[in-house]
Amino acid sequence: MVGLVPAIFVSKSIFGMEKSAHARHKADMNKDNQDQAKAETRQLRSYGRRKGKRLSPRKKRLITDLLPRLRPDLESKPPSDLRTLFSGPVREVWLEIGFGSGEHLLWQAERHPDIGFIGCEPFINGVAALLGGIEDRSLKTVHVHDGDARDMLSWLPDNALNRVFILFPDPWPKKRQQKRRLVSRELVTELARVIAPGGELRFASDDTDYAGQALLTVKRSDAFAWLASRAADWRDRPADLVPTRYEQKALSGLKPVYLRWQRL
Ligand SMILES: C[S@@+](CC[C@H](N)C(=O)[O-])C[C@H]1O[C@@H](n2cnc3c(N)ncnc32)[C@H](O)[C@@H]1O
Repeated sequence: MVGLVPAIFVSKSIFGMEKSAHARHKADMNKDNQDQAKAETRQLRSYGRRKGKRLSPRKKRLITDLLPRLRPDLESKPPSDLRTLFSGPVREVWLEIGFGSGEHLLWQAERHPDIGFIGCEPFINGVAALLGGIEDRSLKTVHVHDGDARDMLSWLPDNALNRVFILFPDPWPKKRQQKRRLVSRELVTELARVIAPGGELRFASDDTDYAGQALLTVKRSDAFAWLASRAADWRDRPADLVPTRYEQKALSGLKPVYLRWQRL
């Protein structure tokens, strides 16, 4: 499978370099310090601003009136069958982390009326945009967590989700910022707990370094199988994924990478 991965994905420090005994010893010596540093960075903010421009009166109303009705109460015990969170019957529950303004989530919810959706997004203007779309379409199958997705994930019972989308997460491209990237060993462990066997994890990014990091991080967990058997599987956008707002901006100028894994 690694043969499919472009050279930029294959970090020398991981695959290409034989560690000398000295380097191994040094690595052992540093392990405790690294673990400590990881524990400290685990809760770093993976998102930028929480508020943008002033909300319109309609959006303010949606935040005040509609959001409290759609927001799962993370203080209460989660239902053991997450599908019962929804007012009508749903077959499965899918979750989107960092839905931005919600275009992709709305697109999926309209096409899959038998699926319950949970969207997580701390950017309040994005939340308000999604709420507007929910109201316009009279959707009854969407719940919204207006905060950090990691809080939602830790609330969820085991095997609660059948699909998780992480589409164009903040790339944090500068070296000193990379510890803020959402996809980490801890996140993948939590995703492995909440995604049911056979369920899917989907990731897209136009930051090839981040995509490579995500690929290696998920691979190391051993809980997921990468669903790619030819280059087109990660080079081309899956037909059931709409281009997101961030993707359309094409800020990096690079072609995005689309990764799909199945929970084993
Ligand atoms: C670059 S934007 C992409 C938005 C959207 N997915 C798109 O493609 O247009 C990344 C989004 O992820 C959100 N985000 C970052 N960390 C998050 C977290 N821990 N939980 C939920 N959302 C998060 C940010 O607020 C931001 O809206």
